[in-house]
Amino acid sequence: MYVDDTAQRRRMLDLWPVCSPHARARITKRDISAALRSPGVVDVLLAEDIPGHNNTGPARHDEPLLATDEVQYDGQMVAVVVGESLTACRAAAALVKVDYEPLTPIVSVADAIAQNSFHTTPHTLARGDCTAALAASPNRLDGELSFGGQEHFYLETQAAWAEPGEDGAVFVSSSTQHPTEIQTIVSEVLGVTRNKVVVQAPRMGGGFGGKETQGNAFAALVALAATRTGRPARMQLDRDVDMTLTGKRHPFYAKFSVGYDNNGRLLASQVELVSDGGWSLDLSQPVLDRALFHLDNAYYIPAVYFTGRVAKTNVTSHTAFRGFGGPQGMLVIEEIVDRIARRLGLPPEVVRERNFYHGSGETNTTHYAEEVTDNRLQRIWRELMTGSDFAARKAAVGEWNRTHAVIKRGLAITPVKFGISFTLSHYNQAGSLVLIYQDGTVQVNHGGTEMGQGLYTKIQGVAMRELGLPASSIRMMATTTDKVPNTSATAASSGADLNGAAVQNACVTLRERLEPVAAKLLSKEIGSEVAATDVKFMCGKVGIRGRTEPRIEFARVCHQAYIDRVSLSAAGFYKTPGVVWDWATSKGRPFHYFAFGAAVAEVEVDGYSGMNRVLRVDIVHDVGNSLNPGVDRGQIEGAFVQGMGWLTREELKWDKAGRLLTHSASTYQIPAISDAPIQMNVTLLPKADNASAIHGSKAVGEPPLMLAFSVREALRDAVAAYGVAGGEVPLASPATNEAIFAAIKRRCDM
Ligand code: MTE
Ligand code: HPA
Ligand code: MOS
Repeated sequence: MYVDDTAQRRRMLDLWPVCSPHARARITKRDISAALRSPGVVDVLLAEDIPGHNNTGPARHDEPLLATDEVQYDGQMVAVVVGESLTACRAAAALVKVDYEPLTPIVSVADAIAQNSFHTTPHTLARGDCTAALAASPNRLDGELSFGGQEHFYLETQAAWAEPGEDGAVFVSSSTQHPTEIQTIVSEVLGVTRNKVVVQAPRMGGGFGGKETQGNAFAALVALAATRTGRPARMQLDRDVDMTLTGKRHPFYAKFSVGYDNNGRLLASQVELVSDGGWSLDLSQPVLDRALFHLDNAYYIPAVYFTGRVAKTNVTSHTAFRGFGGPQGMLVIEEIVDRIARRLGLPPEVVRERNFYHGSGETNTTHYAEEVTDNRLQRIWRELMTGSDFAARKAAVGEWNRTHAVIKRGLAITPVKFGISFTLSHYNQAGSLVLIYQDGTVQVNHGGTEMGQGLYTKIQGVAMRELGLPASSIRMMATTTDKVPNTSATAASSGADLNGAAVQNACVTLRERLEPVAAKLLSKEIGSEVAATDVKFMCGKVGIRGRTEPRIEFARVCHQAYIDRVSLSAAGFYKTPGVVWDWATSKGRPFHYFAFGAAVAEVEVDGYSGMNRVLRVDIVHDVGNSLNPGVDRGQIEGAFVQGMGWLTREELKWDKAGRLLTHSASTYQIPAISDAPIQMNVTLLPKADNASAIHGSKAVGEPPLMLAFSVREALRDAVAAYGVAGGEVPLASPATNEAIFAAIKRRCDM
């Protein structure tokens, strides 16, 4: 049951927003009198009705919940109608009269640069003397790349409901990846202390980063409506409004100068990134940072000067999206490596491999001074090259292309290295609360949220293993802030690492309390002393280490513990050890470890239309000792296809007035089942124990998204087969059919 499925309190009120029709304008008048007289209307909320802060900005307080004197993007909320039905609210919303003086909006990164419109000052990560290394390089590549963002298209749109309680308290159910932040924002907007606010986060119908901050406003609005009217209130956006109002993956502009030798080895790389932050800052700074961290992807570059800045524009406030800037950084370096390879006439896969981090010390150390410990790139590359039969298939693709004039094929292999941890080090903490009842059943609470990534299933597995219980004995509870406080967002792929370890911690505490109780019962059974340390928990029973008999039901031990007045609940806690990052000096060890993977993609392109199919994909991905192989495969397949969508299908278009034209499924094309690779072979890297995370596992949520670069590069490889042989192959991103057709045409016109 999602948030709105549980919105069933009696006489619940509905909410509908009054949105600005201008991307940038001054507000000269707001008149709600007609709307207030409209049938079924209970209240019309304006900024003046907010008792606390009129602000829901997560990082910087730059997001008015309801606009007062200006609007900064198309769709910005000016008022909200609260009424007995959605129909009544919508009808009244049309009666709210707002007068605007329109201004010229900034709708692209290029506009923002031209008008010096930025949210931040430049942030830089550097190593060595890049200018000197560039000058000393035998070859130099200068270029630019602008590429598009991505709509999250979670199937459950933003939703929240709230119910007022006693003494100014409020309960909020929110579709959020970050219940603690919803609690913070609601308390600030209502002007009440945080202990008055309880936020529950039931499972989401997808988040993908789009619910790390973007649910703030809607949760605040239902809380405001509920506390003002004294009645429960709900709000769920429809698809068009959700797409119009909420932030997306950041589009980027990159400008680069790269030095390389005749073997394709990178010697120096100077990259300037500008992201489109949209109207407010949101998470754009850490997103940009993660792009700067991942501008190396898997490659050792001796001299580096990476700098980035967030542009301020009049579009939705762009936000976290699976990979969190990592994909944008990595797209740039993959573009660079491919251009270098094609300039030199070398196979791109050879140039890629030559540049891998390797050995120890300097050549295995990133530009932010973190060593790539337990580097698995070479091993994965070798296994995938062999497993996918790369060499033979490359020859076959060449043969196909020699004998087919219109339909061409392309083949490419690309690597992924992705840093695991929040780069703001103190976010790397988690809590849990595990409750055991006298019948031996368990409730597990933790601070993570479920959005389809299988976190609850994985953590249930952790508790099963720690307590020796079957799945049927362990119930995963919906995440709420009154069970586990002060949580981090479920993000940065670290949900299972952090919350899994916190649950393990609580389970160990409980086991240690139950062991003496069990030892006493077992001693009675066998008539001699059993040491507490010899008690083992398995299959819903307790027994004695090294013996198959006797077995006592776990439930009996729990009941006895209650009789003996032993506490059967425990809070757990975990903080990632050893992560440090100094933002000002840009040095440290921001990541606890790295996730690795590689993918081979083979595609077929029609030269007359640019239409294409992904024939086959082979993946080797490192998930450590998988906590749940089924879930991990699902994550790898899903992330790959979502990455393909970003790189090939999904195109966001704004008009000159700053209106999003692609605000529904009819104009914005996420991959359909028919776009999925016809054949997809996913291998979880074997013998991959990871000592750094829970039960030897590795984070999996985001890294495989970037395996989809293989599709982009395979498409480019196919395009390269048209027209004059050799040379660079410019390709737009997203590489839509139109973009591919244009790239082919460019080659044939050369
Ligand atoms: N998988 C599904 N099905 N739905 C989602 O919303 N979000 C992704 C990823 N996988 C997502 C998903 C993102 S952006 C992240 S950061 C991780 O899951 C978060 O969960 P984890 O930390 O438990 O992996
Ligand atoms: N990843 C995802 N979400 C985040 C991060 C991050 O590194 N930092 C803050 N929010
Ligand atoms: Mo994921 S973008 O870190 O929510």
